[in-house]
Amino acid sequence: MEKQMLYEGKAKKLFALNTPDEYIMSFKDDISAFNGLKKGVISGKGIINNKISGHLMQILEGNGVPTHFIKELSNRDSLVRKVDIIPLEVLVRNVAASSLSKRLGLPEGAKMRQPVIEFCYKKDELGDPMINEYHILAMGFATKEELDLIIEYAQKINQILKEYFLSKKIKLIDIKLEFGRTADGKIILADEISPDTCRLWDSITNEKLDRDRFRRDLGNVEEAYNEIFDRLLG
Ligand code: C5P
Repeated sequence: MEKQMLYEGKAKKLFALNTPDEYIMSFKDDISAFNGLKKGVISGKGIINNKISGHLMQILEGNGVPTHFIKELSNRDSLVRKVDIIPLEVLVRNVAASSLSKRLGLPEGAKMRQPVIEFCYKKDELGDPMINEYHILAMGFATKEELDLIIEYAQKINQILKEYFLSKKIKLIDIKLEFGRTADGKIILADEISPDTCRLWDSITNEKLDRDRFRRDLGNVEEAYNEIFDRLLG
């Protein structure tokens, strides 16, 4: 398969193929935090995230959420549908943590009465600032119809994954989603869903099993990612 690297991000590489509608997404072992200020390598993380993300996207597809995932090609590589990424991080929060705790003065772990949806503008130079629906429409990032659909999908994804993770004794604290637009104008879930992009706590002990172990120097990062892999796919 002929491939040409289009983009290298903090945790993934994207390759174009000689077919027009597909890309290869390749997951790296690199890990970062604080907008790339802190960097590291977690051996085997790329393999784990590729497999977890593909698995979760298949569950979502099975529940009527369209995603970019087509199939796993190798340990680190997946074939995905080509999209234009909408420059938004769509955050869904079930429990207060991190920036939400700081902003609202809530203890980490405080349960929200309903899921909170937030948007950040994906722009590294600006530090991914939080924006609202008015900014999104005014900046032309999405139309009102697209935004309504993104919110509907985000709620549905959160509900499906919250229940699925709980069946594996994991609490989904919060999750970051990205959406893209296909050539024929459809909105679909893109990017990845993994311990890099969710907060996942053990449902009994509240032990953190996600990228916060790296952000906060808690140690055992590789073990935490392996634990999530084993519970979901072992
Ligand atoms: O740090 P914050 O509380 O805003 O993060 C909310 C969620 O979004 C967390 O699950 C975090 O891992 C994810 N996130 C991400 N990439 C970023 C920022 C946040 O995956 N650049």
